[in-house]
Amino acid sequence: MAQQEQWKSKIGFVLAAAGSAIGLGAIWKFPYVAGTGGGGAFLLLFLAFTLVLGMPLLLGEFMIGRMGQSNPIQTYGKLSSNLKWNVIGKLGVFTSFLLLSFYSVVGGWIILYIIKLLSGGLAGLTQDQYGELFGDIISNPYSTIGAQFVFMLITILVVAKGVQKGIELASKVMMPALLVLFLLLVIRSLSLDGAMEGVKFLLVPDFSKLTSESILFALGQAFFTLSLGVSVMLTYASYLPKTQNLPQSAISIIILNIVIALLAGLAIFPGVFSFGMEPNAGPVLIFSVLPAVFANMPFGMLFFLAFLLLFLFAAFTSAFSMIEIIVAAVTKNDASKRKKSTWVIGMLIFIVGVPSCLSYGVLADVHIFNKTIFDLMDYAVSNILMPLGALLIAIFVSRKIPKGDLFAELKQGSNVGYAFFSICYFLLKYIVPIAIIVVFLDAAGLSDWIIALFK
Ligand code: PHE
Repeated sequence: MAQQEQWKSKIGFVLAAAGSAIGLGAIWKFPYVAGTGGGGAFLLLFLAFTLVLGMPLLLGEFMIGRMGQSNPIQTYGKLSSNLKWNVIGKLGVFTSFLLLSFYSVVGGWIILYIIKLLSGGLAGLTQDQYGELFGDIISNPYSTIGAQFVFMLITILVVAKGVQKGIELASKVMMPALLVLFLLLVIRSLSLDGAMEGVKFLLVPDFSKLTSESILFALGQAFFTLSLGVSVMLTYASYLPKTQNLPQSAISIIILNIVIALLAGLAIFPGVFSFGMEPNAGPVLIFSVLPAVFANMPFGMLFFLAFLLLFLFAAFTSAFSMIEIIVAAVTKNDASKRKKSTWVIGMLIFIVGVPSCLSYGVLADVHIFNKTIFDLMDYAVSNILMPLGALLIAIFVSRKIPKGDLFAELKQGSNVGYAFFSICYFLLKYIVPIAIIVVFLDAAGLSDWIIALFK
């Protein structure tokens, strides 16, 4: 097997893993699923799932990734000496493929918005007009497919060269810049008339708004934003030397991710309520609210441009990680095959993504299971395949790898205590699987039936 590549610096890994985590999930998806799923109660659930399930899972992927020093598929067979377990990696690679197929559609939307802004088409509209404009933009089949193609092309070019690790440097500047811009945006948003309504919506939980469906969405969202269940984090950790502090890396990534999601929520909901919009507008939410928030501030369009560029950068660093694991699995880390494989895989992903892209335009009336193609893909990936992958990884880590080996791995590069490890291990072994299964059953409408069974 080819020698595993390694990260260039310690901080490089954290930045890349954080880059994978922070992307459309926290910035674009979180506000709209929280908006649809009940606001504050959804946020609380999302936080609980992130800490109680996401944290041990992230550490789990890190530990076995670095332990295996292999690719996302073979790590499982190698560590358990049973090739059957490779199925977890295969599922992850498949999920990542589908994920990037619609992720690139949204990446394309950002590119189109940047072009629109640069050509002066975004200045001085009312909030309603922004909504309409965005609707027009994403229903145009030619430009959206073109933009999706450009998004994939850049992703391919970077990953084919294997230079995404060089992006470490750019991330060091871009991430803090994104945070600063978000802070600015939140301040602006909070100063709008009626902003408090939005803050209340996001921060004050009303549990009566929760449904089985929104609980499933909160679960999926926690895994989605942390890139869990698809072996992305495992693959990134496989490029690590033993000196990296895994618990510290995991904790920083989780905190950063929560902060960004909160800032995104605080930037958007005050705007939503102030402009009298509905918080459940779906995937178009941030694209119709944010320009209006920016429009009313000095140098608004300049700030909006900076925001869109950073947003696009965040989407790219996530996209790199998605295609990276497919490439790593296909090439088995043989560098001579990287270029060709990346092109073939990237183009296939683009083609598979076209129907999702068109589902906001010419295919808008095509509904499968009551969902548009885009929504169906997103639902299948975020709410079914990712939690399923997470369930299998939790089972694998806690039941196929000896507990002592895991602790020994975790301790390398950190002086983490046994108590912390034990809690994570317990969560991984019992709580993560039970929680995922219960949420699945509940969403499938089986919970009443099960409760009746025990009565
Ligand atoms: N975490 C990324 C985001 O929030 C999405 C992602 C999921 C990336 C799974 C890689 C793997 O945008």
